[in-house]
Amino acid sequence: MKEKINVAVIGCGSIATSAHIPAYMASPIAEIKYFCDIIPERADAAVEKNGCGKAVYDYHEILDDPDLDAVSVCTHNDMHSVISIDFMKHGKDVLCEKPAARILSEALEMEKVSYETGRILSIGVCNRYGNNVNNVKKLIEDGVLGDVHHVYASFRAYRSIPGLGGDFTTFASSGGGALIDWGVHYLDLIMYCLGEPTVKTVSGEAFSKLGVDMKNYLTTSMWARESSNIESGTYDVDDSVVGLIRTDKATVSFNGAWAQNIGVHETYIDFMGDKGGIRLDYLGNFKLYTQMNGMLLETTPTYEMNNIHRSEVLDFAECVAKGERNRNDIKYAVTTSKIMEAVYKSSAQHREVVVD
Ligand SMILES: NC(=O)c1ccc[n+]([C@@H]2O[C@H](COP(=O)([O-])OP(=O)(O)OC[C@H]3O[C@@H](n4cnc5c(N)ncnc54)[C@H](O)[C@@H]3O)[C@@H](O)[C@H]2O)c1
Repeated sequence: MKEKINVAVIGCGSIATSAHIPAYMASPIAEIKYFCDIIPERADAAVEKNGCGKAVYDYHEILDDPDLDAVSVCTHNDMHSVISIDFMKHGKDVLCEKPAARILSEALEMEKVSYETGRILSIGVCNRYGNNVNNVKKLIEDGVLGDVHHVYASFRAYRSIPGLGGDFTTFASSGGGALIDWGVHYLDLIMYCLGEPTVKTVSGEAFSKLGVDMKNYLTTSMWARESSNIESGTYDVDDSVVGLIRTDKATVSFNGAWAQNIGVHETYIDFMGDKGGIRLDYLGNFKLYTQMNGMLLETTPTYEMNNIHRSEVLDFAECVAKGERNRNDIKYAVTTSKIMEAVYKSSAQHREVVVD
């Protein structure tokens, strides 16, 4: 195991500055050697703020550095596969933000290069590090819920389309909307808790109804507003989506919306078994429903919740030092990529799709 590793952060925007950089700064083994952004002020500001590393504005300049061990890819979705593959081919391990890629073929190519080169490729599906999620997973594995036959996920918000007209809502840049951006976390978390079941068939409908009329879309606030371009930008992604996934274990159904004309914000996952059930509030705690001695029980557990982004980045650094793959391996992200592509295909063809 290496005692120290040198890392670079590629893309110094929101998720890099809020999650990856502070986690590396807190790591006892990782040192940030480069901050890279095509917007020079962002790379410069990261160097200034953190008091370490060198600013670079083109990642190609650092590909050949023999002292660089690993990178975090924190750019938008359209550059995930290109940058991750370039670094792996130059002998570096990669932690790439979610979703792995815009489309399945890109994710498959990332997986292929990762296994051919032997480089670690982890995807930022950070819920796999949550104490809440791991407690749910353990209860399912221990049989507390019995046979888990149905999992339902709701990731619905009232009017929450991000950066209208910008990268998030432009298919060429993002690969999709509510499903790709939010759904990916929910689907990955469910597959993780169920022990990575095999997906059989997918049926879905994706709708692009509210954001498409950008000038008349009303909202009380918009996240990622700085990247919006309402006057001349593009809106060609789903703002709501429903789906049904049959696996060799449970059936999974979901209802997701960045925007809908129903004034609720419902973000939870229900795991339904024949002996018990769990409602997991997304990023929050869960409630366990069981029965004992002729009584129905509702239990709200108490445990320490962790910073999932930090746990994820610290684990990545440790796995790079040890040369080991981790629970966020690209092979799991390929499954969610397959599901999401099948949902879009099913929606386009208005029929169920068989997943190989
Ligand atoms: N894991 C999570 O919960 C989570 C949360 C938010 C965002 N994300 C993901 O993180 C990624 C980035 O999102 P964000 O909100 O931080 O976006 P952002 O726009 O704030 O940051 C992206 C940065 O990448 C830079 N960039 C673009 N192309 C580049 C290139 N070729 N080389 C170097 N830098 C480049 C941009 O200039 C920008 O500064 C997205 O894929 C998003 O889905 C994940």
